[in-house]
Amino acid sequence: MSPTAAGSCAPPAAVLCGLAGLVPSRVVTNEHLARRLDTSDAWIRTRTGIRQRHVIDPGQATSDLAVEAGRRALASASAAVDGVDAVVVATTTPDHICPATAPAVAARLGLAGAAAFDVGAVCTGFVYGLASAAGLIAARVAERVLLIGADTYSTIVDPLDRANAIIFGDGAGAVVLRAGHPDEPGAVGHFDLGSDGGQEDLIRVAAGGSRQRSSPGQPGRGERHFAMRGKEVYRHAVTRMAESARATLSRAGWKTDDVDHFVPHQANLRILHSVADDLGLPRERCVTHVESVGNTGAASIPLALADAADSQVLKPGDRLLLTAFGGGLTWGSCLLTWPMLPRPERTTP
Ligand code: UT7
Repeated sequence: MSPTAAGSCAPPAAVLCGLAGLVPSRVVTNEHLARRLDTSDAWIRTRTGIRQRHVIDPGQATSDLAVEAGRRALASASAAVDGVDAVVVATTTPDHICPATAPAVAARLGLAGAAAFDVGAVCTGFVYGLASAAGLIAARVAERVLLIGADTYSTIVDPLDRANAIIFGDGAGAVVLRAGHPDEPGAVGHFDLGSDGGQEDLIRVAAGGSRQRSSPGQPGRGERHFAMRGKEVYRHAVTRMAESARATLSRAGWKTDDVDHFVPHQANLRILHSVADDLGLPRERCVTHVESVGNTGAASIPLALADAADSQVLKPGDRLLLTAFGGGLTWGSCLLTWPMLPRPERTTP
């Protein structure tokens, strides 16, 4: 534990000290999709802002992306920490229903023995994962945590479902957090987390769990695919993200104008701009990369951070607001001041 944290009675804060992300090399453009679906580049761009997304190859799985993102994040943090005590993977597309993906990721990273578990909060998974990692550190259960957001929606979206196949892409992003002082740059804090399970049917994979069991030939293929009531989700996303962002700013005593960069879950460019407008934040302060990678689920915030850090949009001392929304329904936000970090490797191949 760092001397600052060890010397104080206050619980240590979780301080960001490593960052990385990556998307698979295979690109699916809007034109590719328009060849097999009744859609068009113009429709997709106008409704979502997305130009292209990246997808894994047959035979690849979520853990393959998670391991590489984790390896890169650990390398980026190597000046600050040597190894980690816990590995948390936020995902909606685990390699298997049982066991969790995190232990396998930890073992492949040479971290067997570390605590390892998955967080399931759909597209809010990374923010829930940050809160879990911060909790482990504050409770002195762990001093260093590797948190990975990784999703491969291409494995659960019906390729013939034009409403969803256009939105999602695969990817992974990872951060390393160490015990430190709440006032130092990189300390994550002032969280807001929430859920509304009364709306669970808005985003769902109906079958394969205990409610609707899988058995050969039953249930139908469609029920094992991802389903979303897009228009309703859109409405909830704008409202909940704006409310969560406001609650978090108010807890910290920050004004909207104190936010240098708003880093939202990359759901849809129109949603991100609506939330920024609702908050009174200039759209230029909204970090977006949904255009080139689509909605990458739990990976989207760390991937957006890695892209923005690589292109030097994020500078040490900048104040960030992270806000996410996803199935559950779930939502969450958190604040941090950007630390000095090594420039991450490029997220695109
Ligand atoms: O990450 C978790 C959170 N997820 C989200 O935040 C996603 C939120 N929802 C959305 O982003 C949007 O609702 C979508 C992009 C999914 C859909 O956009 P929309 O503007 O809400 O379209 P819509 O569902 O109201 O559909 C409008 C029309 C319909 O045709 P009719 O009934 O008006 O004739 C659809 O059948 O557009 C049609 N449509 C399409 N047309 C061409 C739906 N998908 C497509 C498509 N290409 N891919």
